[in-house]
Amino acid sequence: MKYDIAVLPGDGIGPEVTEEALGVLEAVGKKFGLEFSIKKALLGGCAIDATGHPLPPETLELCRSSSAVLLGAVGGAKWDNLPGNMRPEAGLLGIRAGLGLFANLRPAVIYPALKDASPLRSDIIKDGIDILVVRELTGGMYFGKKGRYETENEGTAAFDTEVYSTQEIRRIARVAFEAARKRKKKVTSVDKANVLESSRLWREVVTVVAKDYPDVELNHMYVDNAAMQLIRCPEQFDVIVTSNMFGDILSDEASMITGSIGMLPSASLGDGTFGLYEPVHGSAPDIAGQDKANPIATILSVGMMMKYSFGLDDAAKEIEDAVSKVLEKGYRTADIASEGTRIVGTKEMGRLIREAISG
Ligand code: IPM
Ligand code: MG
Repeated sequence: MKYDIAVLPGDGIGPEVTEEALGVLEAVGKKFGLEFSIKKALLGGCAIDATGHPLPPETLELCRSSSAVLLGAVGGAKWDNLPGNMRPEAGLLGIRAGLGLFANLRPAVIYPALKDASPLRSDIIKDGIDILVVRELTGGMYFGKKGRYETENEGTAAFDTEVYSTQEIRRIARVAFEAARKRKKKVTSVDKANVLESSRLWREVVTVVAKDYPDVELNHMYVDNAAMQLIRCPEQFDVIVTSNMFGDILSDEASMITGSIGMLPSASLGDGTFGLYEPVHGSAPDIAGQDKANPIATILSVGMMMKYSFGLDDAAKEIEDAVSKVLEKGYRTADIASEGTRIVGTKEMGRLIREAISG
């Protein structure tokens, strides 16, 4: 069996962290006798520079003809003043929508070795944190009608529309309930139903879907309260399901309580096994090219690819275990360093994890 993987390194630290993740992929391939065929393409700022467009048609084509996509990160100050639909981020949104990837899974797990890196007190973290944020990815305000218009007396006005259909809510809710079944069987649906009509529909539909999952406990929470509860008592959460916008915000928050956003992978899935895998973090232009970035989020994204797109659970576990081993030995990139640990660069971290896999 040969696996075709499209790789989109992107901008900033994207290429560096992707390179290390590809090294890990190679090590896993050797260990398990798997053949991966890698093809690279442009997305984001680098694509704008080379072709004038953040998502060139050939990139989308390559992704469509692959079994999975590995993405680094996109964006940077250089492209910040371009119009919205020509920014690197538009390439990312275009690829999510263009590939029908409506479900974004963002696991926030605290590694025992990294307890000290969390900004939360140990009496709050207790035995650890293991939350899965299921973020709707192709709807809501990100894709609703948006625009600007001139008013008579108040200058220019601008708007973005939060819109969700029953079908969109239903399918993301199902993903969350299915995931919860394999975990602690608890779903928290996050909305702003005390104010937003779209949230009231969200709550209604999620409640109906829950009837098909009597073994899973459902509760609803307003997003402001959820932001607070994540810090006050993270252990109450198992699976969080929420809209594109709220999921963007809460997944950054959830990642930070685990110690560093540099640790968190994500999977974006549609109806089948095809998926796009990327770190939750951005392109971090301030440290790009300095061998400082943490490659672990991208490496763990490869792990998620093994599991969700290829059904290679052993390979996924091998990657996760290798990361744990290296952390337990005390190696850290700067973002997760604490007293008594050894700081290494991007390349060295990649090498250590590869070695843990081969060894
Ligand atoms: C993310 C990022 C993106 C988003 C940006 C870069 C468009 O923040 O993947 O969370 O908002 O979805
Ligand atoms: Mg984000």
